[in-house]
Amino acid sequence: MPKVLCIGDVMLDVVVKLQGTINYGEDTASKITTHGGGAAGNVASWIAHTGTESTIVARVGNDSAGAALISEFDDLKVDHSSLIKTNDPTGVVVVLVDQKGERTMFPETGANSGLSLADMPPLAGFDAAYVSGYALLNPRSRTGVMEMIASIKLAGIPLFYDTVTVGAMKEVDRELILSWLPLMDYILPNEEEAIYIVDATDINSALEKLLTLCPAVIIKRGSSGAIAQERGGQRIDIDAINTVVADTTGAGDSFAGGFIAAKISGSDLQASTVAGVTLAATCVANIGARPQGGHAL
Ligand SMILES: Nc1ncnc2c1ncn2[C@@H]1O[C@H](COP(=O)(O)OP(=O)(O)OP(=O)(O)O)[C@@H](O)[C@H]1O
Ligand SMILES: [Mg+2]
Repeated sequence: MPKVLCIGDVMLDVVVKLQGTINYGEDTASKITTHGGGAAGNVASWIAHTGTESTIVARVGNDSAGAALISEFDDLKVDHSSLIKTNDPTGVVVVLVDQKGERTMFPETGANSGLSLADMPPLAGFDAAYVSGYALLNPRSRTGVMEMIASIKLAGIPLFYDTVTVGAMKEVDRELILSWLPLMDYILPNEEEAIYIVDATDINSALEKLLTLCPAVIIKRGSSGAIAQERGGQRIDIDAINTVVADTTGAGDSFAGGFIAAKISGSDLQASTVAGVTLAATCVANIGARPQGGHAL
């Protein structure tokens, strides 16, 4: 069975679903739930959900949130034997979800900082590696993650990279971000990230410019689905699956999980993109960023 290494972050998501508009300085009725989160943890969970094996490389605190997250990985059948426990607190993100399902995040990375090459298990037996942009954008993890990427490339394992967010990219020199893209075999930005990275004016020129840097580009477009192209290949446009949206948290991660699992099982770019939008439709129809069936946190 194919096996994927997922490198990045594991967080506790505290999801606050607003029942109306926020009354600043007053109370606002909400529905609050807690869930496993963090891009790499989510991608590993969705990959395992497809029946493909996944291993998480990340850090959590030596605290109750960390223990709950590990227990959820057990339920979701994610291999967490490489997860490091540190004395820093487990990362937490408060996610405000409005009535349209749109979310606003307040992250504190906590234990996720400081990944090092020693965190990575031996690479024998892995068929692919996913790297979360958060890990490379974080200056405290960058050196370690660059060393992991060098080892992964040396082992000839394909690399899938999610650019994760324009907000965090703005804290880092754009030239440095651009220098990472040729290391990757597949990049999975959303539309806003794609346009930002190459300073493009529209999605078509962003796709064209990104393809000069990376051999395969998959751009996620929310409710409009996704586009994908390999260098020298045809552009593929896939519609999103129409569903009742409860919470878009983790949409991009579930897309990545579905796409990667399909690609490494031998699907072509079109079928893999369809697998991405299909798994993402399951994710957005539920609250939280992970598949159902995990431990209650
Ligand atoms: N409203 C929606 N209805 C159906 N599918 C959706 C919806 N929103 C997102 N998706 C699916 O999820 C995929 C990824 O979502 P999106 O394009 O928002 O990526 P992203 O911005 O990386 O997500 P995230 O906010 O999780 O980082 C889309 O390509 C689409 O297939
Ligand atoms: Mg994203």
